[in-house]
Amino acid sequence: MPSVVENKIAELKAQLKALNQEYAKIKDIPAEERGDFGRKLNEKKQKLNAEIAAAEAEALEVSVEPLDITAPCDINGEMPKFLTADNGSKHPLMTELDRVISIYQSMGFDIVESQQLDDEYHMFDSLNFAKEHPARDNFDTFRTEEGFIPPAHTSTMQNRILRAYKYKLDEGKNIAVAVPGRVYRNEDQDATHEHTFYQCEGVYVSKTCTLGNMLGILREFFEKYYNQKLNIRTQPGFFPFTEPSLEFMIEKPASLVGKSGEYLEMLGCGMIHPNVLKEAGINPDEYCGFAWGGGIDRLVMLKRKLTDVRYFESAKLDFLKELSC
Ligand code: DAH
Repeated sequence: MPSVVENKIAELKAQLKALNQEYAKIKDIPAEERGDFGRKLNEKKQKLNAEIAAAEAEALEVSVEPLDITAPCDINGEMPKFLTADNGSKHPLMTELDRVISIYQSMGFDIVESQQLDDEYHMFDSLNFAKEHPARDNFDTFRTEEGFIPPAHTSTMQNRILRAYKYKLDEGKNIAVAVPGRVYRNEDQDATHEHTFYQCEGVYVSKTCTLGNMLGILREFFEKYYNQKLNIRTQPGFFPFTEPSLEFMIEKPASLVGKSGEYLEMLGCGMIHPNVLKEAGINPDEYCGFAWGGGIDRLVMLKRKLTDVRYFESAKLDFLKELSC
């Protein structure tokens, strides 16, 4: 049975509908009275819309009972009531992440999700970070009291991917895996820095691959994502897990921003360091590989012309609603 607030919302919406029909009368009203008539209608409409918004907010409050998280859990008890699916939609970042994943899949990559708690070995040691090396500071993140690490990048998955897919090399095939996931940095937030964001890693290993192959894959990915031809650039970078290491840039897509000639750094990449292959049980004299990792948020910001990364995690409903359509 509809609740009192739900009835009130229905009644207000009916009034709004009737009011909207009044606008059709404007054309029949003498010119000198039209302004006044229209103004009054607009005022009534604004008032009704405000009342509807307030009633809807009230309806949300009454339909979601607060959970008592300290109560003992009865696994056979009634499930708590959550908002129904038609009250929400997919987060815009997840919609874009799906797109990223399907592009990599169309290019023949397997997809493995990264994990949200990791350890010292996967975060640093397996990636050829020397003990006490200052490069560790570039990946400053958080730690749980037990010493687990919410990973600062999806590269923490490289060792796992290489070990798990080594059988492909033994079968004479290549390793091609993309790893999307949520990552965390201990940073001061501003319009371009968030403590929580998403990355996607790519890992490719074969007997003969080259940096040129990697640039071809990256160009294809970005051209598919932005649906247009792109100019790309690289500059030298440093990551302990690649040698050589590069920063990969694209020229801002003209279809989105007009011809700007401006280049944006989209990701870090390079040839996988022999020590990283060796650590995963792959012989670097026989095989070589390349890898890359870059932020999803940045990709989406450019595509949807957003200027503040903090909105994604902000739970600002207006922003999320506008973006999810
Ligand atoms: N993990 C690096 C970062 O978050 C980016 C990166 C650089 C990933 C080089 C890679 C790589 O796989 O090979 O800044």
